Amino acid sequence: MLQVSKMNDPLILGIESTCDETGVALVRGGELLADRTATSMDEYARYGGIIPEIASRAHLESFLPTLEAALEEAGVELSDVDAVSVAAGPGLVGSLTVGICAAKSLATSLGVPIYGVNHVLGHLAVDELVDGPLPEKFIGLVVSGGHSNLLLVNNIANDVQELGGTLDDAAGEAFDKVGRLLGLPYPGGPHVDRLAQQGDKDAIKFPRGLSGGRDKERYKYDFSFSGLKTAVSRYVKAKELRGEEISKEDICAGFSEAVNDSLTAKAVRAAVDHGVDTIVVGGGFSANSRLRELLKERAAAKGITVRIPPIRFCTDNGAQIAAMGSQLARNGVEPSELEFSPDSQMALDEMAMA
Ligand code: KG4
Ligand code: ZN
Repeated sequence: MLQVSKMNDPLILGIESTCDETGVALVRGGELLADRTATSMDEYARYGGIIPEIASRAHLESFLPTLEAALEEAGVELSDVDAVSVAAGPGLVGSLTVGICAAKSLATSLGVPIYGVNHVLGHLAVDELVDGPLPEKFIGLVVSGGHSNLLLVNNIANDVQELGGTLDDAAGEAFDKVGRLLGLPYPGGPHVDRLAQQGDKDAIKFPRGLSGGRDKERYKYDFSFSGLKTAVSRYVKAKELRGEEISKEDICAGFSEAVNDSLTAKAVRAAVDHGVDTIVVGGGFSANSRLRELLKERAAAKGITVRIPPIRFCTDNGAQIAAMGSQLARNGVEPSELEFSPDSQMALDEMAMA
Protein backbone atom coordinates (compact mmCIF):
# COMPACT_ATOMS: atom_id res chain seq x y z
CA MET A 1 0.00 0.00 0.00
CA LEU A 2 1.23 3.47 -0.87
CA GLN A 3 1.34 5.99 1.97
CA VAL A 4 -0.12 9.42 1.38
CA SER A 5 0.24 12.55 3.39
CA LYS A 6 -2.52 15.17 3.12
CA MET A 7 -2.90 16.12 -0.51
CA ASN A 8 -3.75 19.74 -1.33
CA ASP A 9 -5.35 19.67 -4.73
CA PRO A 10 -5.25 16.02 -5.73
CA LEU A 11 -6.45 14.89 -9.15
CA ILE A 12 -8.84 12.05 -8.35
CA LEU A 13 -10.23 9.54 -10.81
CA GLY A 14 -13.64 8.38 -9.56
CA ILE A 15 -15.28 5.12 -10.67
CA GLU A 16 -18.87 4.19 -9.87
CA SER A 17 -20.50 0.84 -10.73
CA THR A 18 -22.78 -0.01 -7.80
CA CYS A 19 -25.95 -0.60 -9.81
CA ASP A 20 -26.86 0.12 -13.44
CA GLU A 21 -24.75 3.27 -14.04
CA THR A 22 -21.13 3.14 -15.12
CA GLY A 23 -19.75 6.49 -13.95
CA VAL A 24 -16.25 7.89 -14.45
CA ALA A 25 -15.27 11.37 -13.27
CA LEU A 26 -12.22 13.52 -12.64
CA VAL A 27 -12.09 15.95 -9.74
CA ARG A 28 -9.25 18.25 -8.71
CA GLY A 29 -9.62 19.22 -5.04
CA GLY A 30 -13.25 20.41 -4.87
CA GLU A 31 -13.55 21.14 -8.57
CA LEU A 32 -15.24 18.86 -11.10
CA LEU A 33 -13.29 18.51 -14.35
CA ALA A 34 -15.33 15.79 -16.08
CA ASP A 35 -18.23 13.45 -15.35
CA ARG A 36 -19.38 10.75 -17.75
CA THR A 37 -22.10 8.17 -17.23
CA ALA A 38 -23.37 5.21 -19.23
CA THR A 39 -26.50 3.40 -18.09
CA SER A 40 -28.12 0.06 -18.81
CA MET A 41 -31.50 1.20 -17.37
CA ASP A 42 -33.26 1.10 -20.77
CA GLU A 43 -32.81 -2.68 -20.80
CA TYR A 44 -34.85 -3.19 -17.62
CA ALA A 45 -38.21 -1.63 -18.50
CA ARG A 46 -39.43 -4.93 -19.95
CA TYR A 47 -38.33 -6.89 -16.84
CA GLY A 48 -39.73 -4.37 -14.34
CA GLY A 49 -36.46 -4.30 -12.41
CA ILE A 50 -32.68 -4.47 -12.69
CA ILE A 51 -31.11 -7.80 -13.70
CA PRO A 52 -27.70 -7.97 -11.96
CA GLU A 53 -26.11 -10.20 -14.63
CA ILE A 54 -27.01 -7.75 -17.37
CA ALA A 55 -25.78 -4.80 -15.30
CA SER A 56 -22.37 -6.44 -14.66
CA ARG A 57 -21.85 -7.16 -18.34
CA ALA A 58 -22.89 -3.63 -19.28
CA HIS A 59 -20.27 -2.20 -16.87
CA LEU A 60 -17.62 -4.30 -18.56
CA GLU A 61 -18.64 -3.02 -21.99
CA SER A 62 -19.02 0.62 -20.96
CA PHE A 63 -16.01 1.12 -18.74
CA LEU A 64 -13.21 1.89 -21.22
CA PRO A 65 -15.27 4.18 -23.52
CA THR A 66 -16.58 6.07 -20.46
CA LEU A 67 -13.06 6.44 -19.04
CA GLU A 68 -11.70 7.71 -22.36
CA ALA A 69 -14.54 10.22 -22.72
CA ALA A 70 -13.96 11.52 -19.18
CA LEU A 71 -10.18 11.94 -19.68
CA GLU A 72 -10.78 13.80 -22.92
CA GLU A 73 -13.41 16.06 -21.37
CA ALA A 74 -11.08 16.91 -18.46
CA GLY A 75 -8.10 17.43 -20.79
CA VAL A 76 -5.83 15.29 -18.59
CA GLU A 77 -3.77 12.13 -19.06
CA LEU A 78 -4.07 9.01 -16.93
CA SER A 79 -0.51 9.66 -15.78
CA ASP A 80 -1.67 12.96 -14.17
CA VAL A 81 -3.98 11.11 -11.73
CA ASP A 82 -2.89 11.29 -8.06
CA ALA A 83 -5.30 8.68 -6.65
CA VAL A 84 -8.09 6.37 -7.80
CA SER A 85 -11.39 6.31 -5.91
CA VAL A 86 -13.87 3.51 -6.55
CA ALA A 87 -17.25 2.63 -5.05
CA ALA A 88 -16.68 -0.41 -2.80
CA GLY A 89 -20.29 -0.69 -1.58
CA PRO A 90 -23.14 -0.83 -0.80
CA GLY A 91 -24.39 -2.16 -4.12
CA LEU A 92 -24.68 -5.23 -6.35
CA VAL A 93 -21.64 -7.45 -5.87
CA GLY A 94 -21.20 -8.33 -9.55
CA SER A 95 -21.45 -4.70 -10.63
CA LEU A 96 -19.11 -3.51 -7.89
CA THR A 97 -16.57 -6.17 -8.84
CA VAL A 98 -16.24 -4.83 -12.38
CA GLY A 99 -15.52 -1.26 -11.22
CA ILE A 100 -13.17 -2.42 -8.47
CA CYS A 101 -11.14 -4.63 -10.84
CA ALA A 102 -10.77 -1.75 -13.27
CA ALA A 103 -9.78 0.64 -10.46
CA LYS A 104 -7.21 -1.75 -9.00
CA SER A 105 -5.62 -2.33 -12.41
CA LEU A 106 -5.37 1.40 -13.04
CA ALA A 107 -4.00 2.24 -9.58
CA THR A 108 -1.43 -0.55 -9.82
CA SER A 109 -0.22 0.38 -13.28
CA LEU A 110 -0.07 4.10 -12.39
CA GLY A 111 1.56 3.45 -9.01
CA VAL A 112 -0.98 5.62 -7.16
CA PRO A 113 -3.10 4.99 -4.04
CA ILE A 114 -6.63 3.60 -4.25
CA TYR A 115 -9.63 4.36 -2.05
CA GLY A 116 -12.51 1.87 -1.96
CA VAL A 117 -15.16 4.35 -0.85
CA ASN A 118 -18.66 4.29 0.53
CA HIS A 119 -21.09 4.99 -2.29
CA VAL A 120 -23.87 6.33 -0.02
CA LEU A 121 -21.56 8.94 1.51
CA GLY A 122 -20.60 9.90 -2.04
CA HIS A 123 -24.20 11.03 -2.54
CA LEU A 124 -23.48 13.74 0.05
CA ALA A 125 -19.82 14.46 -0.82
CA VAL A 126 -20.80 15.40 -4.39
CA ASP A 127 -22.58 18.51 -3.10
CA GLU A 128 -19.18 20.17 -2.56
CA LEU A 129 -18.61 20.21 -6.33
CA VAL A 130 -21.83 22.17 -6.85
CA ASP A 131 -22.49 24.26 -3.76
CA GLY A 132 -18.94 24.76 -2.43
CA PRO A 133 -17.23 23.44 0.72
CA LEU A 134 -19.42 21.26 2.92
CA PRO A 135 -20.51 22.80 6.23
CA GLU A 136 -18.60 21.74 9.32
CA LYS A 137 -21.50 19.66 10.57
CA PHE A 138 -24.68 18.67 8.75
CA ILE A 139 -27.52 16.20 8.53
CA GLY A 140 -27.36 14.00 5.43
CA LEU A 141 -30.57 12.62 3.95
CA VAL A 142 -29.83 10.01 1.27
CA VAL A 143 -32.93 8.87 -0.58
CA SER A 144 -32.94 6.65 -3.66
CA GLY A 145 -34.15 3.37 -5.09
CA GLY A 146 -31.75 1.50 -2.82
CA HIS A 147 -31.26 3.68 0.24
CA SER A 148 -33.13 5.93 2.69
CA ASN A 149 -30.76 7.08 5.40
CA LEU A 150 -30.40 9.89 7.91
CA LEU A 151 -26.81 10.65 8.91
CA LEU A 152 -25.09 13.07 11.25
CA VAL A 153 -21.94 14.16 9.44
CA ASN A 154 -19.22 15.83 11.51
CA ASN A 155 -16.54 15.26 8.87
CA ILE A 156 -17.38 13.23 5.80
CA ALA A 157 -13.80 11.88 5.65
CA ASN A 158 -13.67 10.49 9.17
CA ASP A 159 -16.70 11.10 11.37
CA VAL A 160 -20.17 10.01 10.23
CA GLN A 161 -22.87 8.65 12.51
CA GLU A 162 -25.91 6.77 11.22
CA LEU A 163 -29.00 8.16 12.92
CA GLY A 164 -31.55 5.99 11.18
CA GLY A 165 -32.77 4.50 7.96
CA THR A 166 -35.56 2.52 6.42
CA LEU A 167 -36.63 -0.67 8.17
CA ASP A 168 -38.01 -2.07 4.91
CA ASP A 169 -38.38 -0.39 1.50
CA ALA A 170 -36.33 2.60 0.37
CA ALA A 171 -38.37 5.67 -0.66
CA GLY A 172 -37.75 5.21 -4.40
CA GLU A 173 -38.44 1.49 -4.11
CA ALA A 174 -41.79 2.19 -2.44
CA PHE A 175 -42.67 4.61 -5.26
CA ASP A 176 -41.65 2.01 -7.85
CA LYS A 177 -43.84 -0.64 -6.17
CA VAL A 178 -46.86 1.65 -6.03
CA GLY A 179 -46.19 2.54 -9.68
CA ARG A 180 -46.33 -1.16 -10.57
CA LEU A 181 -49.53 -1.60 -8.56
CA LEU A 182 -51.14 1.20 -10.57
CA GLY A 183 -49.90 -0.21 -13.88
CA LEU A 184 -47.37 2.61 -14.53
CA PRO A 185 -44.13 1.99 -16.48
CA TYR A 186 -40.89 1.06 -14.68
CA PRO A 187 -39.34 2.78 -12.85
CA GLY A 188 -42.57 4.10 -11.40
CA GLY A 189 -41.12 6.85 -9.17
CA PRO A 190 -41.22 9.74 -11.65
CA HIS A 191 -44.67 8.67 -12.94
CA VAL A 192 -46.15 8.51 -9.44
CA ASP A 193 -44.63 11.96 -8.78
CA ARG A 194 -46.18 13.37 -11.97
CA LEU A 195 -49.66 12.01 -11.17
CA ALA A 196 -49.34 13.13 -7.54
CA GLN A 197 -48.92 16.71 -8.71
CA GLN A 198 -52.31 16.48 -10.46
CA GLY A 199 -54.12 14.92 -7.48
CA ASP A 200 -55.48 16.07 -4.12
CA LYS A 201 -53.04 15.13 -1.34
CA ASP A 202 -55.82 15.31 1.25
CA ALA A 203 -58.38 13.18 -0.59
CA ILE A 204 -57.06 9.87 0.80
CA LYS A 205 -55.23 9.75 4.12
CA PHE A 206 -52.64 6.96 4.11
CA PRO A 207 -50.75 5.91 7.27
CA ARG A 208 -47.34 7.28 8.27
CA GLY A 209 -45.08 4.45 9.46
CA LEU A 210 -43.35 4.70 12.85
CA SER A 211 -44.97 8.01 13.69
CA GLY A 212 -47.32 7.14 16.51
CA GLY A 213 -47.26 5.78 20.05
CA ARG A 214 -44.07 4.15 21.30
CA ASP A 215 -42.63 3.82 17.78
CA LYS A 216 -42.40 7.59 17.48
CA GLU A 217 -39.63 7.76 20.09
CA ARG A 218 -38.11 4.31 19.61
CA TYR A 219 -37.66 4.82 15.86
CA LYS A 220 -37.40 8.57 15.83
CA TYR A 221 -35.03 8.75 12.85
CA ASP A 222 -36.16 5.57 11.07
CA PHE A 223 -38.59 5.08 8.20
CA SER A 224 -40.99 2.32 7.23
CA PHE A 225 -42.87 2.34 3.95
CA SER A 226 -44.07 -1.24 3.52
CA GLY A 227 -47.25 -0.76 5.63
CA LEU A 228 -48.05 2.27 3.53
CA LYS A 229 -47.58 0.30 0.32
CA THR A 230 -49.94 -2.39 1.68
CA ALA A 231 -52.49 0.28 2.58
CA VAL A 232 -52.42 1.56 -1.01
CA SER A 233 -52.83 -1.99 -2.31
CA ARG A 234 -55.79 -2.65 0.02
CA TYR A 235 -57.42 0.62 -0.96
CA VAL A 236 -57.17 -0.23 -4.69
CA LYS A 237 -58.45 -3.80 -4.17
CA ALA A 238 -61.41 -2.66 -2.06
CA LYS A 239 -62.40 -0.13 -4.72
CA GLU A 240 -62.12 -2.77 -7.45
CA LEU A 241 -64.26 -5.23 -5.47
CA ARG A 242 -66.95 -2.62 -5.15
CA GLY A 243 -66.64 -1.82 -8.83
CA GLU A 244 -65.79 1.79 -8.04
CA GLU A 245 -63.55 4.07 -10.09
CA ILE A 246 -60.16 4.96 -8.63
CA SER A 247 -58.36 8.24 -9.06
CA LYS A 248 -54.72 7.36 -9.68
CA GLU A 249 -53.90 11.03 -9.20
CA ASP A 250 -55.42 11.17 -5.70
CA ILE A 251 -53.83 7.84 -4.71
CA CYS A 252 -50.41 9.04 -5.85
CA ALA A 253 -50.88 12.39 -4.12
CA GLY A 254 -51.93 10.80 -0.81
CA PHE A 255 -49.17 8.21 -0.99
CA SER A 256 -46.50 10.76 -1.91
CA GLU A 257 -47.61 12.99 0.95
CA ALA A 258 -47.28 10.13 3.44
CA VAL A 259 -43.72 9.24 2.30
CA ASN A 260 -42.55 12.83 2.17
CA ASP A 261 -44.21 13.77 5.44
CA SER A 262 -42.11 11.07 7.19
CA LEU A 263 -38.86 11.89 5.37
CA THR A 264 -39.02 15.63 5.92
CA ALA A 265 -40.35 15.59 9.49
CA LYS A 266 -37.57 13.23 10.59
CA ALA A 267 -34.80 15.05 8.72
CA VAL A 268 -35.80 18.39 10.26
CA ARG A 269 -36.17 16.82 13.68
CA ALA A 270 -32.66 15.33 13.40
CA ALA A 271 -31.23 18.75 12.54
CA VAL A 272 -33.02 20.46 15.43
CA ASP A 273 -32.09 17.71 17.93
CA HIS A 274 -28.40 17.93 16.96
CA GLY A 275 -28.17 21.71 16.72
CA VAL A 276 -27.30 21.55 13.03
CA ASP A 277 -28.29 24.28 10.57
CA THR A 278 -27.83 22.48 7.24
CA ILE A 279 -29.43 19.42 5.63
CA VAL A 280 -27.71 17.98 2.54
CA VAL A 281 -29.87 15.72 0.36
CA GLY A 282 -28.66 13.14 -2.17
CA GLY A 283 -29.93 10.14 -4.14
CA GLY A 284 -32.23 9.78 -7.15
CA PHE A 285 -35.42 10.19 -5.11
CA SER A 286 -34.43 13.80 -4.38
CA ALA A 287 -35.89 14.56 -7.84
CA ASN A 288 -39.27 14.18 -6.15
CA SER A 289 -41.15 17.46 -6.39
CA ARG A 290 -43.01 17.15 -3.09
CA LEU A 291 -39.85 16.20 -1.17
CA ARG A 292 -38.10 19.37 -2.38
CA GLU A 293 -41.09 21.59 -1.62
CA LEU A 294 -41.97 20.19 1.80
CA LEU A 295 -38.39 19.90 3.04
CA LYS A 296 -37.55 23.47 2.09
CA GLU A 297 -40.75 24.73 3.72
CA ARG A 298 -40.27 22.82 6.97
CA ALA A 299 -36.53 23.52 7.17
CA ALA A 300 -37.00 27.24 6.54
CA ALA A 301 -39.50 27.38 9.41
CA LYS A 302 -36.65 26.23 11.71
CA GLY A 303 -33.93 28.42 10.13
CA ILE A 304 -32.30 25.40 8.46
CA THR A 305 -30.65 25.57 5.02
CA VAL A 306 -31.29 22.74 2.55
CA ARG A 307 -28.65 21.85 -0.06
CA ILE A 308 -29.79 19.57 -2.92
CA PRO A 309 -27.47 19.18 -5.94
CA PRO A 310 -28.98 19.21 -9.45
CA ILE A 311 -30.57 15.88 -10.30
CA ARG A 312 -27.74 14.61 -12.52
CA PHE A 313 -25.53 14.59 -9.42
CA CYS A 314 -28.25 12.90 -7.32
CA THR A 315 -28.61 9.74 -9.39
CA ASP A 316 -25.55 7.47 -9.24
CA ASN A 317 -22.51 9.10 -10.89
CA GLY A 318 -18.73 9.04 -10.96
CA ALA A 319 -18.45 12.59 -9.59
CA GLN A 320 -19.78 11.50 -6.19
CA ILE A 321 -17.10 8.82 -5.93
CA ALA A 322 -14.31 11.18 -7.04
CA ALA A 323 -15.58 13.82 -4.58
CA MET A 324 -15.52 11.28 -1.75
CA GLY A 325 -11.98 10.17 -2.68
CA SER A 326 -10.88 13.78 -2.79
CA GLN A 327 -12.21 14.36 0.75
CA LEU A 328 -10.28 11.32 1.99
CA ALA A 329 -7.04 12.34 0.25
CA ARG A 330 -7.27 15.95 1.45
CA ASN A 331 -7.89 14.76 5.01
CA GLY A 332 -4.85 12.46 4.90
CA VAL A 333 -6.90 9.28 5.34
CA GLU A 334 -4.88 6.08 4.68
CA PRO A 335 -5.69 4.53 1.29
CA SER A 336 -7.29 1.08 1.12
CA GLU A 337 -5.21 -2.10 0.95
CA LEU A 338 -5.18 -3.45 -2.62
CA GLU A 339 -6.77 -6.72 -1.44
CA PHE A 340 -10.15 -5.22 -0.53
CA SER A 341 -13.33 -6.86 -1.85
CA PRO A 342 -16.74 -5.35 -2.63
CA ASP A 343 -18.98 -4.95 0.40
CA SER A 344 -22.62 -5.05 -0.65
CA GLN A 345 -23.67 -4.11 2.91
CA MET A 346 -20.95 -1.52 3.62
CA ALA A 347 -21.76 0.22 6.92
CA LEU A 348 -22.51 3.92 6.75
CA ASP A 349 -19.94 4.90 9.36
CA GLU A 350 -17.25 3.28 7.22
CA MET A 351 -15.91 5.95 4.85
CA ALA A 352 -13.51 3.67 2.94
CA MET A 353 -12.23 0.10 2.99
CA ALA A 354 -9.23 -0.47 5.27
O1 KG4 B 1 -30.27 7.07 -6.95
P1 KG4 B 1 -31.01 6.24 -7.93
O2 KG4 B 1 -30.65 6.36 -9.39
O3 KG4 B 1 -30.95 4.70 -7.58
C1 KG4 B 1 -30.25 4.09 -6.56
O4 KG4 B 1 -29.04 4.36 -6.38
O5 KG4 B 1 -30.91 3.28 -5.89
O6 KG4 B 1 -32.56 6.56 -7.75
C2 KG4 B 1 -33.53 5.94 -8.54
C3 KG4 B 1 -34.82 5.86 -7.73
C4 KG4 B 1 -35.86 4.99 -8.42
O7 KG4 B 1 -36.52 4.22 -7.44
C5 KG4 B 1 -36.80 6.03 -9.05
O8 KG4 B 1 -38.10 5.57 -9.25
C6 KG4 B 1 -36.76 7.11 -8.00
O9 KG4 B 1 -35.40 7.16 -7.56
N1 KG4 B 1 -37.16 8.43 -8.54
C7 KG4 B 1 -38.24 9.10 -8.11
C8 KG4 B 1 -38.29 10.29 -8.87
N2 KG4 B 1 -37.24 10.29 -9.73
C9 KG4 B 1 -36.55 9.14 -9.51
N3 KG4 B 1 -39.13 8.79 -7.15
C10 KG4 B 1 -40.09 9.70 -6.93
N4 KG4 B 1 -40.22 10.86 -7.58
C11 KG4 B 1 -39.35 11.20 -8.57
N5 KG4 B 1 -39.49 12.35 -9.22
ZN1 ZN C 1 -26.95 5.51 -4.99
